[in-house]
Formats: sequence, structure tokens, C-alpha cells
Amino acid sequence: MAALVNPGITKLVGNTPLLRVRLFEREFPRLEVYAKAEWFNPGGSVKDRAALAMIEDGERRGALTKDRTIIDSTSGNTGIAYALMGAAKGYRVKLVMPGNVSAERKALVMAYGAEIVYSDAGEGSDGAIRMVRDLVAGDPDAYFYPDQYSNPANPRAHYEGTAVEILEQTDKRITHFVAGLGTTGTFVGTSRRLKEHDASIKTIAIEPDDSFHGLEGLKHLPTAIVPRIWDPSLADEVWGCPTEPAYALARTVARAEGLLVGHSSGAVLWAVRKLATAIHEGVVVTVFPDSGDRYISTGLYGARPR
Ligand SMILES: Cc1ncc(COP(=O)(O)O)c(C=O)c1O
Repeated sequence: MAALVNPGITKLVGNTPLLRVRLFEREFPRLEVYAKAEWFNPGGSVKDRAALAMIEDGERRGALTKDRTIIDSTSGNTGIAYALMGAAKGYRVKLVMPGNVSAERKALVMAYGAEIVYSDAGEGSDGAIRMVRDLVAGDPDAYFYPDQYSNPANPRAHYEGTAVEILEQTDKRITHFVAGLGTTGTFVGTSRRLKEHDASIKTIAIEPDDSFHGLEGLKHLPTAIVPRIWDPSLADEVWGCPTEPAYALARTVARAEGLLVGHSSGAVLWAVRKLATAIHEGVVVTVFPDSGDRYISTGLYGARPR
């Protein structure tokens, strides 16, 4: 094969750019802020890393074979990632989603040929988890159920990928790591590797500040089914982010820097600013899980920044 030809779309997962974020530079000139631009993954989000790792782990263990359907519950991005990887590798994909996920997400998943089963919107991601467990229990041999909330291959993708990339891209200068909690895979895997490298690196995990929130992709752990992969010992701090300030920061960073990011990136920016007021200097790295174009129909950019 010619050297310039990529052998396939799954090989494009990871190695995302680390972007300098200048939003807080005037206020905190001695603070460097960087973000992993995870929408550069082929499926458009950080979840490509976990989905590919869990599927390839299933293939290695023999748990995933061509006669089985990949099934999981997902608030959207993991579903898009499974749907893409399934199409690329030749597997059927069935996804259980709360009925209220954004229109763009449903359309994307269907474009890759995956099937959607809707769970009760009022029960959120936990309702989807309960429904997928029932479906698998009803016909266990028909499915490969990666269970992103319990599968060690999810954080391992970040332990072996995201964290190693961050250390290389910052020339090992990172002092603080900030990330949102969904399945907790990004935070747990990345923080574990960073702390093994240098125990003085501080880690801050971000969840919504309330069980009723608008931060799609993030989980309010005190009121949710706690993911089995969650390891609270890796978090120096866990902060609850309010929805509106996160939305406002997502709008601001789009207009001020040309970075069109999703709700959960607004949430980590809220946390970076809060951290900045405490530390004033350092090398802070965060993760922007997806792009704002996934949320146009939610009205995220409908209002002017305040
Ligand atoms: C938009 C968005 N942000 C953040 C996250 C959290 O990532 P993780 O599941 O690795 O905790 C997700 C996960 O689904 C997501 O979709």
C-alpha cells in the first residue's frame, strides 16, 4: 500500500490535536490552558476511543463474533462511535437511547445503519441502562454488550491513548487535569496514567451540579447508577457545574476563538476558570469531548453570550 494511504477509518481514532485556549489569558497571564480537540476523531467525539477499544477487546476475547449484534445504552456519542465502528468492521449495532437525545445524534446513528430503541426520556441514561440489561437478559447469545459503564477497556483507551498523548504534547509540563464525568472512562483512565507518571499532577472531575441538568454526556453521580469503572481515589476534587454558565462559556469560546464545542466542553471551561482563580499559574489540560454542531437543534447557540 502506498505510504500516504490510510488503511481504514478506525486507524484515525486518537492522536487528536492539543489546542491552546486563550479565553482566560488576560485575567490569568501565567496560566497555560490546553484542550484535547476530541471532535477530530472520525466519529466526531472522544467516545471513538472507548468504543474502538471495547470492540477490539471483545474481538480478542472471542466475545464479539459476526453473528452477534453490538448493543449498549448511550446518550449519543458512544452510539455514534459504535455505529461507525460497526459499519467499518461489519457488525450489526443496536442502541438504547433516552427519547430526548438531540435530533442530530439520532440522524447520525441511523446514517451509519444502526438500529435505535428508545427508553423513557424522563428516566435519562439510567432508564436506558435498565432497558439494555433487560434486552440482553432476554436473549444473551444474540448480543455483544460492551457495557461502557463497567468495561475496563473504556478507561484503558485513555490510559494508553489520551494520557500518553497529553504527556507528549505538553512535553510532560502538565500540572492539572480537568475532565467531565459521563461513564467516567476519560477521567479515570487519563488521571490514572498521569498520576503514575507524576503523583503531584492534580486532577479535577466535573459533574452536573444537579440531577436535572442540560449537560448532555455528563452524569450527576450522587443520584445516578454509579459506573463500576469509577475510581474516586483518582480525583483530587469533584466539582458540580451549573448548566447555564457552561452554556454561556460554550457560546463565548465559539465567538472569541473559533472553537465550536458542545455543552460538556463549556462545563470543563467553567471548571478551568474556577481552578484559575485558585492557582493563578500552571499548565492546565482539559478535554473538549465533542463539537457544537451536534447541538445546533438544542438552541445552544441561539442566544447571545452575556
Ligand atoms: C459530550 C460528552 N461529554 C463528556 C462525556 C464523558 O466522557 P466519559 O464517558 O469518558 O466520562 C461524554 C460521554 O458520553 C459525552 O458524550
